Amino acid sequence: MAVITNIEDLRILAKKRVPRMFYDYADSGSWTESTYRANQEEFGKLKLRQRVAVNIDNRSLRTKMIGEDVAMPVALAPTGLTGMQHADGEILAARAAEKLGVPFTLSTMSICSIEDVAAHTKAPFWFQLYVMRDRDFIERLIERARAARCSALMLTLDLQILGQRHKDLKNGLSAPPKPTLANMLNLATKPRWGLGMLGTRRRHFGNIVGHVKGVANMGSLSAWTSQQFDPRLNWGDVEWIKKRWGGKLILKGIMDAEDARLAADSGADALIVSNHGGRQLDGAPSSISALPPIVDAVGSRIEVWMDGGIRSGQDVLKAVALGAKGTLIGRPFLYGLGAMGEAGVTKCLEIIRNELDLTMAFCGLTDIRQVNRGVLLNPPW
Ligand code: GLV
Repeated sequence: MAVITNIEDLRILAKKRVPRMFYDYADSGSWTESTYRANQEEFGKLKLRQRVAVNIDNRSLRTKMIGEDVAMPVALAPTGLTGMQHADGEILAARAAEKLGVPFTLSTMSICSIEDVAAHTKAPFWFQLYVMRDRDFIERLIERARAARCSALMLTLDLQILGQRHKDLKNGLSAPPKPTLANMLNLATKPRWGLGMLGTRRRHFGNIVGHVKGVANMGSLSAWTSQQFDPRLNWGDVEWIKKRWGGKLILKGIMDAEDARLAADSGADALIVSNHGGRQLDGAPSSISALPPIVDAVGSRIEVWMDGGIRSGQDVLKAVALGAKGTLIGRPFLYGLGAMGEAGVTKCLEIIRNELDLTMAFCGLTDIRQVNRGVLLNPPW
């Protein structure tokens, strides 16, 4: 590939370099993928208001998310199996985020463990929690996040059951991949990935294998989810987790103003308007269209962030314009990681930062904290 200038270039390169089952895992939505597509497409409905002859020297994208200084209002989202996009993926992504000055979130379903990421980074990261039936395990996970100096807990509320993703079933997704003929043929075409994997011992779900009784290997995410994730999760559990953790709490997966009010009532520090990248309820609206009513309902009581469909700095600006105090990116950084490891995640963040900076300037603004609905022409929501 010649010069990489945008996120789509990273996606194309990742698709070449990452084994099909892991590329597909990251890049698919549930069922018809209508929500997955809407997340990206509906940013296109927002038109920006160009201003001219304004002094746009000395610009700043710096702001705060839950009181933490960030170089721009963008964090890396928690994504499962990140260490299968590239060997040691979570550590590499966390390092790139640290260098750029943005938060990294480690998924419960990561390959590198909490302790491993902490040992290989300096900046505190956020830990995303899934709630399992085994509450002892949850208590231990919370304690492990505390011991690793995680500065916030991000509780995911929209994945107690798994939306069906056709490709994962067809590909027989597992970590590590099973040595079937189809897998072997596909892996043979991904030598860089294979060499990286041969050079690391991090090939299993690091937060889980060895930490849950009776679980030595749990390659299949769907089997593990249906057996272990707790479908009874409710607001009472949120209260229990908040008390147990005692630190900053972020609630992820809110799409409805009524749920947003309950999230604000819970005393959490931030909520994320998210449909899980279109991977859970297919037919749910796009995240960007769900954002304004939630900002209207609770924006004065809790920080409202969003994720889903961001592929550029323009998209970040649009989300901020509609009231998001922060955004998260998942697939864009995974494409960077799969394409080029740590350098690819750095590239992804630099691309988004530069696009955000220039777009803000074209709108006649010099500080991201000044951005509001005024940069949009007739927003439909
Ligand atoms: C897990 O978070 C998934 O969406 O697969």
